[in-house]
Amino acid sequence: MQLNKILPQIIADNKLHAKWLNTLSLMENTGARKISASENPVTVTYIILKHAAEEHRHAFYLKKQLEKTGEGLCPTYAGEYLLAPAYSKYYLNQLDINVCRYLKKELKLTGSELRFAAYLLVTYAIEVRADELYPIYQDALDNAGSKVNVKSIILEEEGHLEEMINQLQKFSPEWQLHAQKAVDMETGLFENWVKALADSLALQQ
Ligand SMILES: [Fe+2]
Ligand SMILES: [Fe+2]
Repeated sequence: MQLNKILPQIIADNKLHAKWLNTLSLMENTGARKISASENPVTVTYIILKHAAEEHRHAFYLKKQLEKTGEGLCPTYAGEYLLAPAYSKYYLNQLDINVCRYLKKELKLTGSELRFAAYLLVTYAIEVRADELYPIYQDALDNAGSKVNVKSIILEEEGHLEEMINQLQKFSPEWQLHAQKAVDMETGLFENWVKALADSLALQQ
Protein backbone atom coordinates (compact mmCIF):
# COMPACT_ATOMS: atom_id res chain seq x y z
CA MET A 1 0.00 0.00 0.00
CA GLN A 2 1.44 3.33 -1.02
CA LEU A 3 0.71 6.69 0.50
CA ASN A 4 -0.20 8.33 -2.81
CA LYS A 5 -2.98 5.74 -3.18
CA ILE A 6 -4.62 6.47 0.18
CA LEU A 7 -4.17 10.25 0.31
CA PRO A 8 -6.95 11.11 -2.21
CA GLN A 9 -9.38 9.04 -0.11
CA ILE A 10 -8.31 10.92 3.04
CA ILE A 11 -8.46 14.38 1.44
CA ALA A 12 -11.94 13.72 -0.05
CA ASP A 13 -13.45 13.27 3.44
CA ASN A 14 -13.16 16.30 5.74
CA LYS A 15 -13.30 14.25 8.93
CA LEU A 16 -10.58 11.88 7.77
CA HIS A 17 -8.54 14.79 6.47
CA ALA A 18 -8.76 16.51 9.85
CA LYS A 19 -7.54 13.32 11.55
CA TRP A 20 -4.68 13.00 9.07
CA LEU A 21 -3.55 16.59 9.70
CA ASN A 22 -3.86 16.01 13.44
CA THR A 23 -1.78 12.82 13.12
CA LEU A 24 0.96 14.66 11.22
CA SER A 25 0.81 17.40 13.85
CA LEU A 26 1.25 14.82 16.61
CA MET A 27 4.28 13.34 14.84
CA GLU A 28 5.86 16.77 14.28
CA ASN A 29 5.26 17.57 17.94
CA THR A 30 6.82 14.27 19.02
CA GLY A 31 9.86 15.05 16.86
CA ALA A 32 10.12 18.59 18.22
CA ARG A 33 9.94 17.38 21.81
CA LYS A 34 12.59 14.76 21.11
CA ILE A 35 14.95 17.40 19.73
CA SER A 36 14.36 19.64 22.74
CA ALA A 37 14.89 16.70 25.11
CA SER A 38 18.21 15.79 23.51
CA GLU A 39 19.58 19.34 23.81
CA ASN A 40 22.63 19.82 25.94
CA PRO A 41 21.73 22.84 28.12
CA VAL A 42 25.23 24.32 27.69
CA THR A 43 26.48 23.37 24.23
CA VAL A 44 23.20 23.58 22.27
CA THR A 45 23.79 25.45 19.01
CA TYR A 46 21.93 27.97 16.85
CA ILE A 47 21.11 25.21 14.32
CA ILE A 48 19.59 22.90 16.95
CA LEU A 49 17.50 25.73 18.44
CA LYS A 50 16.30 26.73 14.97
CA HIS A 51 15.45 23.14 14.13
CA ALA A 52 13.47 22.57 17.36
CA ALA A 53 11.59 25.86 16.87
CA GLU A 54 10.65 24.96 13.29
CA GLU A 55 9.45 21.45 14.18
CA HIS A 56 7.28 22.95 16.93
CA ARG A 57 5.94 25.41 14.34
CA HIS A 58 5.07 22.51 11.99
CA ALA A 59 2.97 20.87 14.71
CA PHE A 60 1.16 24.18 15.27
CA TYR A 61 0.80 24.97 11.55
CA LEU A 62 -0.79 21.57 10.78
CA LYS A 63 -3.20 22.09 13.66
CA LYS A 64 -4.04 25.47 12.11
CA GLN A 65 -4.58 23.93 8.64
CA LEU A 66 -7.01 21.53 10.23
CA GLU A 67 -9.44 24.43 10.79
CA LYS A 68 -9.96 24.52 6.99
CA THR A 69 -11.54 21.05 7.10
CA GLY A 70 -14.35 22.09 9.45
CA GLU A 71 -15.14 23.67 12.79
CA GLY A 72 -14.17 22.05 16.09
CA LEU A 73 -12.59 18.93 14.58
CA CYS A 74 -9.75 17.12 16.38
CA PRO A 75 -9.13 19.50 19.31
CA THR A 76 -6.52 17.26 20.99
CA TYR A 77 -4.21 14.32 20.27
CA ALA A 78 -6.60 11.84 21.92
CA GLY A 79 -6.79 8.54 20.01
CA GLU A 80 -10.28 9.21 18.66
CA TYR A 81 -8.92 12.25 16.76
CA LEU A 82 -6.01 10.41 15.10
CA LEU A 83 -5.48 7.91 12.27
CA ALA A 84 -3.78 4.67 13.38
CA PRO A 85 -3.17 6.25 16.83
CA ALA A 86 -1.12 3.45 18.37
CA TYR A 87 1.18 3.06 15.41
CA SER A 88 1.53 6.80 14.82
CA LYS A 89 2.83 7.16 18.38
CA TYR A 90 4.97 4.03 18.13
CA TYR A 91 6.78 4.97 14.89
CA LEU A 92 9.12 7.66 16.19
CA ASN A 93 9.71 6.17 19.62
CA GLN A 94 10.62 2.83 18.10
CA LEU A 95 12.99 4.45 15.60
CA ASP A 96 14.68 6.19 18.52
CA ILE A 97 15.00 2.91 20.43
CA ASN A 98 16.39 1.04 17.41
CA VAL A 99 18.93 3.77 16.61
CA CYS A 100 20.09 3.98 20.26
CA ARG A 101 20.53 0.21 20.34
CA TYR A 102 22.64 0.40 17.17
CA LEU A 103 24.80 3.25 18.49
CA LYS A 104 25.43 1.51 21.80
CA LYS A 105 26.40 -1.71 20.09
CA GLU A 106 28.41 -0.40 17.13
CA LEU A 107 29.95 2.81 18.49
CA LYS A 108 29.80 2.02 22.23
CA LEU A 109 28.28 5.42 22.95
CA THR A 110 26.64 6.32 26.26
CA GLY A 111 25.17 9.34 28.06
CA SER A 112 25.13 12.72 26.33
CA GLU A 113 27.22 11.43 23.40
CA LEU A 114 24.62 8.74 22.76
CA ARG A 115 21.80 11.29 23.01
CA PHE A 116 23.45 13.63 20.53
CA ALA A 117 24.32 10.86 18.04
CA ALA A 118 20.78 9.49 18.25
CA TYR A 119 19.41 12.99 17.61
CA LEU A 120 21.59 13.21 14.48
CA LEU A 121 20.64 9.82 13.02
CA VAL A 122 16.95 9.74 13.94
CA THR A 123 16.44 13.28 12.71
CA TYR A 124 18.34 12.60 9.49
CA ALA A 125 16.14 9.59 8.68
CA ILE A 126 13.00 11.59 9.44
CA GLU A 127 14.13 14.50 7.27
CA VAL A 128 14.72 12.11 4.36
CA ARG A 129 11.15 10.87 4.88
CA ALA A 130 9.69 14.37 5.29
CA ASP A 131 11.29 15.45 2.00
CA GLU A 132 9.43 12.62 0.30
CA LEU A 133 6.13 12.67 2.20
CA TYR A 134 5.20 16.37 2.16
CA PRO A 135 5.63 16.85 -1.62
CA ILE A 136 3.45 13.74 -2.23
CA TYR A 137 0.85 15.19 0.12
CA GLN A 138 1.03 18.65 -1.51
CA ASP A 139 0.52 17.05 -4.96
CA ALA A 140 -2.55 15.23 -3.68
CA LEU A 141 -3.85 18.51 -2.17
CA ASP A 142 -3.32 20.33 -5.49
CA ASN A 143 -5.06 17.54 -7.43
CA ALA A 144 -8.05 17.72 -5.10
CA GLY A 145 -8.14 21.55 -5.21
CA SER A 146 -7.87 21.62 -1.41
CA LYS A 147 -7.42 24.86 0.57
CA VAL A 148 -4.98 23.11 2.87
CA ASN A 149 -1.33 23.64 1.96
CA VAL A 150 2.01 22.54 3.37
CA LYS A 151 4.39 24.46 1.11
CA SER A 152 6.04 26.35 3.98
CA ILE A 153 6.79 23.05 5.71
CA ILE A 154 8.34 21.62 2.52
CA LEU A 155 10.72 24.60 2.32
CA GLU A 156 11.86 24.24 5.93
CA GLU A 157 12.23 20.46 5.73
CA GLU A 158 14.59 20.84 2.76
CA GLY A 159 16.75 23.13 4.88
CA HIS A 160 16.69 20.63 7.74
CA LEU A 161 18.07 17.80 5.62
CA GLU A 162 21.02 19.98 4.56
CA GLU A 163 21.62 21.02 8.17
CA MET A 164 21.57 17.39 9.34
CA ILE A 165 24.10 16.41 6.66
CA ASN A 166 26.39 19.27 7.77
CA GLN A 167 26.19 18.15 11.40
CA LEU A 168 26.68 14.47 10.49
CA GLN A 169 29.82 15.28 8.47
CA LYS A 170 31.32 16.81 11.61
CA PHE A 171 30.17 13.85 13.72
CA SER A 172 31.94 11.07 11.82
CA PRO A 173 33.86 10.45 8.57
CA GLU A 174 31.71 7.32 8.27
CA TRP A 175 28.46 9.21 8.72
CA GLN A 176 26.93 7.86 5.52
CA LEU A 177 27.18 4.28 6.73
CA HIS A 178 25.45 5.09 10.03
CA ALA A 179 22.88 7.33 8.35
CA GLN A 180 21.98 4.56 5.91
CA LYS A 181 21.37 2.18 8.83
CA ALA A 182 18.96 4.70 10.34
CA VAL A 183 17.20 5.13 6.98
CA ASP A 184 16.83 1.34 6.65
CA MET A 185 15.30 1.12 10.14
CA GLU A 186 12.97 4.01 9.35
CA THR A 187 11.84 2.48 6.05
CA GLY A 188 10.51 -0.66 7.74
CA LEU A 189 8.68 1.36 10.39
CA PHE A 190 7.26 3.75 7.80
CA GLU A 191 5.91 0.92 5.63
CA ASN A 192 4.15 -0.57 8.65
CA TRP A 193 2.74 2.85 9.51
CA VAL A 194 1.25 3.23 6.00
CA LYS A 195 -0.23 -0.23 6.34
CA ALA A 196 -1.75 0.71 9.70
CA LEU A 197 -3.16 3.88 8.09
CA ALA A 198 -4.77 1.86 5.29
CA ASP A 199 -6.28 -0.53 7.85
CA SER A 200 -7.65 2.34 9.92
CA LEU A 201 -9.27 3.84 6.77
CA ALA A 202 -10.93 0.52 5.98
CA LEU A 203 -12.36 0.49 9.53
CA GLN A 204 -13.77 4.00 9.14
CA GLN A 205 -15.64 3.26 5.90
FE1 LIG B 1 8.82 19.01 10.45
FE1 LIG C 1 12.31 18.78 9.87
